[in-house]
Amino acid sequence: NESEFIEEIVNVISSKIHTEPKTVKELVGIESRLEKLRFLMGTGSTDVRMIGIWGMGGLGKTTLARVVYDLISHEFYASSFLADVRERFEKEGSVISLQKQLLSNLLKLGDISIWHVDDGINIIGSRLRQQKVLLVIDDVADVEQLQSLAGKRDWFGLGSRILITTRDKQLLVAHEVDEEHILNLDVLNDDEALQLFSMKAFKSHQPVEEYVELSKRVLNYASGLPLALKVLGSFLIGRSVDQWRSALERLKRDPSNKIMSILQISFDGLQDSEKKIFLDVACFFKQKNRDYVTKILEGCGFFPVIGIEVLIERSLLTVDDYNTLGMHDLLQELGQLIVTRQSPEEPGKRSRLWRQEEVRHVLTKNAGSEVVEGMIIDVHFFLKNEVRLSAKAFSLMTNLRFLNIGNVQLPEGLEYLSNKLRLLNWHRYPLKSLPSNLQLDKIVEFQMCYSHIEELWKGIKPLNTLKVMKLSHSENLIKTPNFIEVPNLEVLDLKGCTSLREIHSSLLRHNKLILLNLKGCTSLTTLP
Ligand SMILES: Nc1ncnc2c1ncn2[C@@H]1O[C@H](COP(=O)(O)OP(=O)(O)OP(=O)(O)O)[C@@H](O)[C@H]1O
Ligand SMILES: [Mg+2]
Repeated sequence: NESEFIEEIVNVISSKIHTEPKTVKELVGIESRLEKLRFLMGTGSTDVRMIGIWGMGGLGKTTLARVVYDLISHEFYASSFLADVRERFEKEGSVISLQKQLLSNLLKLGDISIWHVDDGINIIGSRLRQQKVLLVIDDVADVEQLQSLAGKRDWFGLGSRILITTRDKQLLVAHEVDEEHILNLDVLNDDEALQLFSMKAFKSHQPVEEYVELSKRVLNYASGLPLALKVLGSFLIGRSVDQWRSALERLKRDPSNKIMSILQISFDGLQDSEKKIFLDVACFFKQKNRDYVTKILEGCGFFPVIGIEVLIERSLLTVDDYNTLGMHDLLQELGQLIVTRQSPEEPGKRSRLWRQEEVRHVLTKNAGSEVVEGMIIDVHFFLKNEVRLSAKAFSLMTNLRFLNIGNVQLPEGLEYLSNKLRLLNWHRYPLKSLPSNLQLDKIVEFQMCYSHIEELWKGIKPLNTLKVMKLSHSENLIKTPNFIEVPNLEVLDLKGCTSLREIHSSLLRHNKLILLNLKGCTSLTTLP
């Protein structure tokens, strides 16, 4: 129809319009790097070329790839930027979602179903042969990832360019990227480093006079690494000469791992609640919406409105145009390392757990303790191999704030869940009821989709902070609780609760409710 046709035209034209990336102005030394890279890309010639950018973490590989992508993508039929490949692979355990993204960007198809990596390989390998495309594969850590995304040059049409960034040069060699098409990214030279550092530490292109000597000494430690320069500059801004000296003393202490000790100094300088926010984001909330994270952390009493702002000023967090929280992977690594160091051997004595195996260990071995504050894993992880837990699995975790799990069995029931929970998302909760002693005084978000629950609780529970309640597809649920003391409820999702017969009349009084989903509640005959 006409409107679809117009939309298509708009899409084609807007993909051809060349836009100057707005962040380029904040980058130093980018022209010379860009020139080298564009020479290697050689976009005039019709060969299918793979190009590599390699160098250590925090050097600016992703930044450079993004700039060149924004500049030249309009010269191609279609383009795709696959970001954070290493991280996504670690999290998801496969490249399937990356294959889907690639196909949807390059073929402009909607959701494509791929069940196995080999299917993805077959589709990518056969459907793009006639297309001149630009593909960026950012931060690759394993040659297998490359083989599943851009295995051979003949997968792509003439003139195509595949740009790969990695910390590991060997990987480019193994994937037969020509030596002459590999850019060994240099660190910033002294002038560039001073300029970037000054922009952060003095909001100017040069240091303030009394700090010139100190700045030079500080620059020695950052070794021309943009990430280190930004974090260090943002940390030192507004501090006295004495404080600069003391920071330098500390940097001297650990010369072995300069970048990590620079990042650590900045972390150590944070206030307690800011540290907690930083660690929560590093372990749980990277790539989540800022408003959502703010809402949850507010419930924890961490003052996230100001805290997140401070972390952004310190170059420890970023927020993009979509309001998504970002954290550089080295900073995330630092945060996760700080948590792991709390108890290197026993995960049950760490404040945050985000790795599937560690959550499994803690839950099945009853190894949890009062130290554990959060446990968040992808709810689908245990799907293939359902885990059986004892009734006491959560009994020692009295300080748990966040819990996000799913697909576990509780053959003996469940005795206890922390009464400090702010976020509870339990997919396929297997019991008919919640532990009778459960207090949810602090809960902000309560989700039990596909649960076996019949009734949540009897009587009135005061839940002042509860904003979101989702119980969709809980097919045994007969009635909702009383909402009289749930004054801040915004979302109530009861979709597909096929046995639901009664919604408590107190829901009527709610003036904050924004979303009420009752789709497929086939047993419901009346509304309050
Ligand atoms: N030329 C530059 N000028 C100013 N800042 C830069 C420059 N290059 C990179 N940065 C900044 O340095 C930080 C690290 O850059 P980037 O993420 O591109 O590094 P990377 O090499 O991709 O690291 P990793 O290997 O960990 O993925 C970012 O915050 C980025 O904004
Ligand atoms: Mg990167």
